[in-house]
Amino acid sequence: MPLEPKAVTISDIAVEPPPEATMVDPMAWYDTPGPWEMEIGCGKGGFLLSRARANPHIRMLGIEWASKYYRSTVDRMARWQLTNVRVMRTDAKIFVMRHLPPQCLDALHIYHPDPWPKKRHHKRRLIQHDFANTVLTLLKPGALWLLQTDHQEYAEQIQAVLGLRSDLTQLFDQSIADVAGPEWQGTNFQIKYTQQDQPIHHFAFRRK
Ligand SMILES: C[S@@+](CC[C@H](N)C(=O)[O-])C[C@H]1O[C@@H](n2cnc3c(N)ncnc32)[C@H](O)[C@@H]1O
Repeated sequence: MPLEPKAVTISDIAVEPPPEATMVDPMAWYDTPGPWEMEIGCGKGGFLLSRARANPHIRMLGIEWASKYYRSTVDRMARWQLTNVRVMRTDAKIFVMRHLPPQCLDALHIYHPDPWPKKRHHKRRLIQHDFANTVLTLLKPGALWLLQTDHQEYAEQIQAVLGLRSDLTQLFDQSIADVAGPEWQGTNFQIKYTQQDQPIHHFAFRRK
């Protein structure tokens, strides 16, 4: 008699942040092979769910700092019995800069990163030259880096940091809508700002 597939539980979905000064092998977290993608700041997990459901062959990691959103994303992935998603509660900047092996990523998704609007807080923004330099070592050749923001001035910073890099090709005809699943209606922040008639700035890059 064929065995029933094992039910996915919260402890299958949640992965612990690595101890200081250790590298991780993200592939060891999954039972099946496939491309590996990461979403930073996944919030309540809407994009992660859509992308993972539509692409069961893709292995996904969502990173979320806020414990309330982290827990709700983990619960959501377990309710949907997704075997190809893992979620970690950590500071994504530290995780990316210190714990990942080179050329491990097939795609990086960052949607509505915190804009830190006050000038004295701009240094807390994720998309800066040092972060981009590290991300470029993690992306495989041909990997995608997709971002979007509702914040005009942060959009200018993203364009300035990533737009002129010789190791990235900017794709002006791609966005989250092309990679999310068929039922995609937008991230929570995208929906909120679209209702307020704020323009959403989309970015897509391919690692050369
Ligand atoms: C503005 S919300 C956007 C959430 C979701 N991507 C969306 O579009 O609806 C930014 C999210 O990123 C998370 N976040 C910000 N900085 C982070 C960091 N360094 N590491 C992990 N998560 C972070 C926040 O907790 C928050 O849930």
